[in-house]
Amino acid sequence: MKFETKAIRLQSGRSQHREHSTPIHPSSSFVFESAEQMQAIFAGTEQGNIYSRFTNPSVEEFQNKMAALEEVETCMATATGMSAIFTSLMAYLKQGDHLIASRALFGSSFQIISSNLQEYGISASFVNPTLPDSWKDALRPETKMFYLETPSNPGLEIVDLELASAFCKEHGVLLNVDNCFATPYLQQPAKWGADIITHSATKFIDGQGRVMGGAILGSNEIIDKAFQFIRRTGPSLSPFNAWILSKSLETIAVRMDRHCSNALALANWLAKHDKVVKVNYPFHESHAQYNIARKQMSKGGGIVTFEIKGGLEEGVSFLNNIKMLSLTANLGDSRSIASHPASTTHLRVPEEDRLKVGITNNLIRISVGLEHIDDIQEDIDQSLNSIA
Ligand SMILES: Cc1ncc(COP(=O)(O)O)c(C=O)c1O
Repeated sequence: MKFETKAIRLQSGRSQHREHSTPIHPSSSFVFESAEQMQAIFAGTEQGNIYSRFTNPSVEEFQNKMAALEEVETCMATATGMSAIFTSLMAYLKQGDHLIASRALFGSSFQIISSNLQEYGISASFVNPTLPDSWKDALRPETKMFYLETPSNPGLEIVDLELASAFCKEHGVLLNVDNCFATPYLQQPAKWGADIITHSATKFIDGQGRVMGGAILGSNEIIDKAFQFIRRTGPSLSPFNAWILSKSLETIAVRMDRHCSNALALANWLAKHDKVVKVNYPFHESHAQYNIARKQMSKGGGIVTFEIKGGLEEGVSFLNNIKMLSLTANLGDSRSIASHPASTTHLRVPEEDRLKVGITNNLIRISVGLEHIDDIQEDIDQSLNSIA
């Protein structure tokens, strides 16, 4: 089956009611027919659900679809993207280990690696993800993993997955990739050799700003550690959210096509706007890693950033003038969202560190939604032209 068909047709078995749409199984635990069956399922000699912190049929359907779409053996779903990322670090690293991480990461991921892991005795070195020749300088005998995001949030930096994978294989290090911005429809990191793939399903996978969720994917052997970690520590996905996310996957291909065509049109239009200094979009020819993006992604994704004339004040003024786009702390929604990272999500990050990953004072991030492109552009245009 092709991607679009798998996203729609992979489904758990029908119940006795012969429902067409996939059923939901909101049950904390599952009953056994006998003490012997209970013993066998607990012992693992017979397959079956026990308790929804471990497994649940609705969650399993979402996991099976995600694994099929990323073309890997297995997936564990989690309550949020951050719990998938935390699991992808904690299940594989121990005290004394060292991690190499891209410096262009989502804020909470950066905080976990630079702060929480240090407290557990796991050290980290941050590297420039666009300078592969510099990565080896960060290697230590105790290096166990390379963690990166591509495209990164919000700088949209692209990391060459082929090079990252070759680097990891050469040095016996696990490659862990956050594939949240691309989704498996645009990019499959396992094809380039990634060992662990994580997702915030809260973003384009739900795509309608309704529920939180996450996923961690890879081979059976690797993901078994994540399964044991989740089963014991409990960041499991709720059956209701899994059901929503499974239904969302049915439309991911058509949604991503529209996100990407709207985003490309917006990037091309912004590049010619006289109030705009610079546009950043992976499939816009001016992007510094345009050729790498074209190699590993089938389309450019749904996020566009641009720098407006001016600084912090003009950025705030741009947001205040917006009429239709939403001002909200999310992305990957059917509704277009405008944000100004320097005055919000990255307010507490020192300016010097922000600038290193392209978060300038005048940077605006648009999560391009599914509305008509003319209406999106009209709102951004009137806002740019009204900046005080
Ligand atoms: C790239 C990336 N990874 C992970 C996350 C965290 O996901 P969640 O908010 O579902 O925990 C986000 C959230 O914005 C993100 O942008």
